[in-house]
Amino acid sequence: MFKKLMASALALTLLVGCGGGSTASNGGGASSGKTYNVGVAIYQFDDNFMTLYRNELKSYMEEQGKKNGVTYNITIVDGKNDMAEQTNQVENFITQKMDVIILNLVQTSSADTVIDKVVAAGIPLVLINREPLGDNGDESYKGILDNPNVCYIGADARQSGTFQGEIVAELPDHGDINGDGEVAYVMIEGDPENVDAQYRTEYSIKALEDAGIKVKKLDDQVGNWKQEKGQEIAANALTQYGKDVEVIFCNNDAMALGAAAAITAAGRKVGEDIYLLGVDALEECVQMVENGEMTGTVLNDHVGQSHTAVDVAIKALNGEKIDNYYWVDYVKVTK
Ligand code: GAL
Repeated sequence: MFKKLMASALALTLLVGCGGGSTASNGGGASSGKTYNVGVAIYQFDDNFMTLYRNELKSYMEEQGKKNGVTYNITIVDGKNDMAEQTNQVENFITQKMDVIILNLVQTSSADTVIDKVVAAGIPLVLINREPLGDNGDESYKGILDNPNVCYIGADARQSGTFQGEIVAELPDHGDINGDGEVAYVMIEGDPENVDAQYRTEYSIKALEDAGIKVKKLDDQVGNWKQEKGQEIAANALTQYGKDVEVIFCNNDAMALGAAAAITAAGRKVGEDIYLLGVDALEECVQMVENGEMTGTVLNDHVGQSHTAVDVAIKALNGEKIDNYYWVDYVKVTK
């Protein structure tokens, strides 16, 4: 944890430093006038959160280029949720002699293979959004720690799960709408290979239990981050368990949007006879929290994460030393 706090503080310092418009730490000076080729591989364009992330990443990097008199030639490719396709894309980036690669892995289980290729080519690598975990289940991933020019930038998914659970625990009835002494919930999960999905599923419930609240799992299904899957899973659960469903936890907002539609279709009302939680704080979901159509969400700070990714990539391009990990905090979003 201490390590995480330190890394968070470092990330913050970095952001503050760059926000202050200091060209010295940010690609200006000696490198002025240069052109750098930047390869960005996203796991899947068809993902609400990663779309916000990649758009912000591109515009912020172009802005930094203008500020520093440097051209960043940014190529962004869609992995279409297919690891073989993404490996090809990274190999192409290597052939094209990209100066830095920013990578949102399709499968973290393939991290080593891809890291090895990029490191062998001598290209700095900035991993984003999908964290490969070390053997002991923490952030110490050998392929990252062993390579000074490889880093991961993300948010600690445990925190987002904890925040979801805490939002429910902090409700006047602590999520126990029918007063039977336990919170009956449905869990709608993202891609199960993704640590964000694993931790959000685990830590949302852990936060309830840690608050001394009894829980009862009615259903737990994989919706792969997709709105239509979220809707289908919630609709089925509401048909099967009816009024027994007190809380629907979704690992992300896209699935919560689907679940919200299913809740309305079932004639239920968030805040009255059911609670609904997401993660990401998509604009439409923040609006829904405000209107009472969602109980809460958790800000997955795509601005902080994408800016840190760019700042670190620029440091690496300038030959400066980078850390292995940079963390950006989640923020609770309630009415
Ligand atoms: C999560 C985000 C999801 C999805 C996923 C992709 O952090 O909450 O909505 O974008 O990343 O890996």
